[in-house]
Amino acid sequence: MSPINLGEIPAAPQNNDELAATHPSLETLQLLATRRSTVARMLTEPGPNAEEVKTLLRLASRVPDHGKLAPWRFIVFEGNARQAFGDKLVEIFKKNEPSADHERQEFERQRFMRAPIVIALISRVQPHPKIPEWEQVLSAGAVGQIILIAASAMGYAVQWITEWLAYDDDVNKLLKLSEGERVAGIFYLGTAQGPITERARPMPGNLITHWSAS
Ligand SMILES: Cc1cc2nc3c(=O)[nH]c(=O)nc-3n(C[C@H](O)[C@H](O)[C@H](O)COP(=O)(O)O)c2cc1C
Repeated sequence: MSPINLGEIPAAPQNNDELAATHPSLETLQLLATRRSTVARMLTEPGPNAEEVKTLLRLASRVPDHGKLAPWRFIVFEGNARQAFGDKLVEIFKKNEPSADHERQEFERQRFMRAPIVIALISRVQPHPKIPEWEQVLSAGAVGQIILIAASAMGYAVQWITEWLAYDDDVNKLLKLSEGERVAGIFYLGTAQGPITERARPMPGNLITHWSAS
């Protein structure tokens, strides 16, 4: 269970409620300075409970969204649904890779069992006269990053991965995706089985230029 008392997280503000323009928070900055994903195979129980998942996805949905289209949705896999999904996933895998050995097949069957909770983030782009597809996809990406940050702040370890299943038409059918929908990420949430270590990071200095007219 999360060390955070969900009751202390503000309820969803109502439209046009007055809000603080800034939230100076050293804790938030400390989290951002050290946040790190935990690989799915390192995850174990406990994961977030139903109330925590609901809160997590409410917070993750508070992202910039040009046109207020909410161009994303979530599919939650918990309990037996993870295994039931794996039982169907492995059939698709065997069709794609008939020569794969038993061990690999079993990996696919158990794929979602690596974490107590698995959440698929679905990008759903809708044709719009003013809002380009690109901006709708970016908005879904922002949701993904908030899932990482909010899960970490709730005390859970998490990884955002896609792997082959995010790009397979049969898996899309299994997920019951509609036209314009794509898997933006599959989020594995739980508790880290052991310590994690930092990965190589880009040097911001190499990525920043300052524009000038000359
Ligand atoms: C859209 C997206 C898809 C990803 N898919 C994979 C994947 O399939 N396999 C993988 O090993 N990492 C994948 N990653 C990277 C993992 O999230 C990886 O754990 C990440 O680089 C760790 O970075 P962090 O510690 O800053 O969160 C993906 C990342 C993103 C944003």
